[in-house]
Amino acid sequence: MSTKSMLNIVKMKKMKEEGIPLSMVTAYDYPTAKLSEEANVDIILVGDSLGNVVLGYNSTIPVTLEDMVYHTRSVARGAENTFIVADMPFMTYHGSIDETLRGVRRLMQEGNAQAVKLEGGLEICSAVEVIVKSGVPVLGHIGLTPQSVNQIGGYRIQGKDAKDAQRLMDEAKALEAAGAFGIVLELVTEQVAEAISKELTIPTIGIGAGRYCDGQVLVFHDIFQYASPYMNKRFVKTYGDIGSLIREGLGKYVKEVKERSFPSTEHVFLADDHVLDSLYGNGTTKGG
Ligand code: KIV
Repeated sequence: MSTKSMLNIVKMKKMKEEGIPLSMVTAYDYPTAKLSEEANVDIILVGDSLGNVVLGYNSTIPVTLEDMVYHTRSVARGAENTFIVADMPFMTYHGSIDETLRGVRRLMQEGNAQAVKLEGGLEICSAVEVIVKSGVPVLGHIGLTPQSVNQIGGYRIQGKDAKDAQRLMDEAKALEAAGAFGIVLELVTEQVAEAISKELTIPTIGIGAGRYCDGQVLVFHDIFQYASPYMNKRFVKTYGDIGSLIREGLGKYVKEVKERSFPSTEHVFLADDHVLDSLYGNGTTKGG
């Protein structure tokens, strides 16, 4: 059992003050969570990127609250001592407060998350305030927000002109004022992400947002080349190649099954001779 003590949002803010970067990675199940905890990752994000890299959808939009609760619960079983943030999925925090809080309650109580993440700027600040007031930490997410991909018009870099940079800065400040404990900056130009990180007292966590955020997050399946459609993006760095390992291993397995070299003697269980006698008759062997 891990002896790691869990991080919390107060310590995260202190880490920012002390210039200690936060490491965050996505995980979606028991093994990815367990390995992340063993590697001392600060925060695990059960991202709705689940839809892209685990469930085979071409966006995060089809991911349901049910999917998120199920996967968050298995992550929590694998990483009991790591701070877990669960994504609120598409359209679960734009309706009534009751509906929003019902989703939050399920991710916290049934999923065992420590916090939730919401995508968006000014339009979600009232939801953030209510969730925070209910005692649940909220991580914001601005820049490229995949749940709004159809409105944004594709997976484009944000903060390229002065107006867009100002919009991002305003959104970040509003989320901080609403009580968010941190903000993910996705696909934001490095200088704009740096300016936001300097302006806020809460940590920023970047993905494709350059070197000067207070932390970094990447998608597990991207950094380990684990059959992810997104692993070749510029902002992704490969830290291992599970995909090739599995492909080669499975290829060998199929070959050995076909040529009957697996299983071999070391993999089989033998019955005693008297069992054979009773099956085939004394002194008689099959075919004898
Ligand atoms: O769903 C996700 O994995 C995310 C990260 C890209 C930050 O939101």
